[in-house]
Amino acid sequence: MERTLVLLKPDAVQRDLVGEIISRLERKGLKLVGIKMMQLSSDLLDTHYSHLVGRGFYPEIRSFMQRTPVVACCWEGIDSVNTVRLLTGITKAREAAPGTIRGDFALSVQTNLIHCSDSLETAKAEVERFFKAEELFEYTDALETFLSSSGERD
Ligand code: PPS
Repeated sequence: MERTLVLLKPDAVQRDLVGEIISRLERKGLKLVGIKMMQLSSDLLDTHYSHLVGRGFYPEIRSFMQRTPVVACCWEGIDSVNTVRLLTGITKAREAAPGTIRGDFALSVQTNLIHCSDSLETAKAEVERFFKAEELFEYTDALETFLSSSGERD
């Protein structure tokens, strides 16, 4: 089953929105298979945001992402990468659709509460970057058959 990485950024931690955001992902029917709080190192951030390292705004992203620990989570579910992106809303949070996490709670491009993987390929690399194999869990979701059909789960 598809897995994706979510980081609850320092603004989510500071604004006490961790529970709200996790609750939204849970209520959608996604399955939490890994979660931890982490203080991100500069090296990890430089790898994670390698496509942005040369941009003028990157030093501010790095410093922002280190202001408090973040909450890293791994979510599993049918089309979980795209599903989480739809729930999250677009990067420029002030233009994100109402009903999305960013649309309901954020204004900024930088302090936009949540990072989520943008493709299946990125998700695989990002989950491995933030979680060791033993920090990810496989278990039966008791409600699985009430959340999807067998054909959708295959
Ligand atoms: S881009 O510019 O489209 O290639 O970048 P993208 O892959 O969408 O990632 C943008 C991430 O950088 C954070 N960020 C900013 N982006 C653009 N402009 C400014 N000023 C800026 N400041 C921070 C933005 O929040 C995205 O973070 P993630 O964690 O990927 O959501």
